[in-house]
Amino acid sequence: MAIDHQMTPAGPAGQVLDPGATAVAHPNIALIKYWGKRDEQLMIPYVDSLSMTLDVFPTTTTVRLSPEAPADSVTLDGSPAEGEQRRRVVAFLDLVRELAGRTEPAEVDTRNAVPTGAGLASSASGFAALALAGAAAYGLDLDPTALSRLARRGSVSAARSIFGDFAICHAGRGTSEDADLDSYAEPVPVPDFDPALVIALVDAGPKAVSSRAAMRRTVETSPLYRSWATSSAADLTEMRVALRRGDLDAVGEIAERNALGMHATMLAARPAVRYLSPATVAVLDRVGWLRANGVPAYATMDAGPNVKVLCHRTDAARVAEALRDAAPGCSVVTARRGPGARLRTGAER
Ligand code: DP6
Repeated sequence: MAIDHQMTPAGPAGQVLDPGATAVAHPNIALIKYWGKRDEQLMIPYVDSLSMTLDVFPTTTTVRLSPEAPADSVTLDGSPAEGEQRRRVVAFLDLVRELAGRTEPAEVDTRNAVPTGAGLASSASGFAALALAGAAAYGLDLDPTALSRLARRGSVSAARSIFGDFAICHAGRGTSEDADLDSYAEPVPVPDFDPALVIALVDAGPKAVSSRAAMRRTVETSPLYRSWATSSAADLTEMRVALRRGDLDAVGEIAERNALGMHATMLAARPAVRYLSPATVAVLDRVGWLRANGVPAYATMDAGPNVKVLCHRTDAARVAEALRDAAPGCSVVTARRGPGARLRTGAER
C-alpha cells in the first residue's frame, strides 16, 4: 500500500506538525461466519469465513506519531477510549511498532458512523482502518495480504474489511505459527451479484456479552460447536458456487442456515449466550412471511440482535418497509457491496 505521509508546514507555535495517516474502512457482513479462535494470542480462527463489505457505516481513523508523549492516546468518537477498547488499540499499536522497529507513541482518533459494540461489525471496520493508518504512520509498506494478516491480529473479521465486495478469510493450517502466516483474507471475484442488504437496527445499544467472550464460551462448552464448524466448511463450498452463479436464493439459504447454526451453538453453550431478542424473532418471522409471499429475502445475524436481510435491489424498499412494520421503532438502512479500506489523500483530510 502506498504511504501517504505529508507534513503540514506550520503548527500553532511555528513547529512542523505531522498530519499522520488517515484511513477509511467499511464493515462487512459474513455470509459464512467466523466463530471461535484456536489461538487467542495470535487471533487464529477455527473456520474459514466469507463476507460482503458494505457501502455504509464507515470508520475513519487517523494515526499520528507523538514522540514527545508519555503514552499512546486513543480517542473514540470524540471521547477518550477506556478499558478493554483502549487496551486492544494499544496492543495493536505495539504490534505495528514491533513490525516497524519503532517505539514512538501515537495519537489515534477514530470515528465510527455506526454505534460501537452493537453487533454491526464496528471492530471489523475499526481494525481494518487502524491497520492501514497505523502501518502508514509507522512507515510500514505492506501489500494487501500482509495488511489483512495484520488487521486479523486486531479482530479476525477486520481481515476481510481490507477488501471491498466479497472476501474470504482463510483459517490457516498447521501449527499456530504456520497458521499465523496463512490466515488472511483475499477477494472473491463475483462480477454478477450485486444484491441489497437491508439492515434492521432493532437495538443499537452495546451488547451484554462481547463476541470475544461469547465465542470463547461457545468453543469451550457448546456440544454443537464442532458439528457447526464441520457443516460450515460444506456451506462455504456451496456458497462459492452459488455466488459464482449469482443465485440470490441459494446464497440467501446458505447464509441464513449458517447464521442460525452459529446462534444454535451459542444457545447450547453453558451458560447459554442469546443475542436474539423478541424484536429479532419478529423480524425473522417477517422475512419468512416475505418469502411465502414471493419476495426472496434471507436473514443473517451476528453477535447482536440486529438482522441483516439479503434481497434483490429491486425488492429493497418493500423489504425495508416490511421490517419496519415488524419491529416498530427500529431503524432500517439499506446497504450494497462496498469498497475496501483506503488511505485518504492530503486534499481529503
Ligand atoms: C459473529 O471479528 O468481532 O460477526 O476476532 O474476537 O475481534 P474478534 O471477533 P469479531 O467476531 C465477529 C463474529 C461474527 C461473524 C463474522 O463476522 O464472521
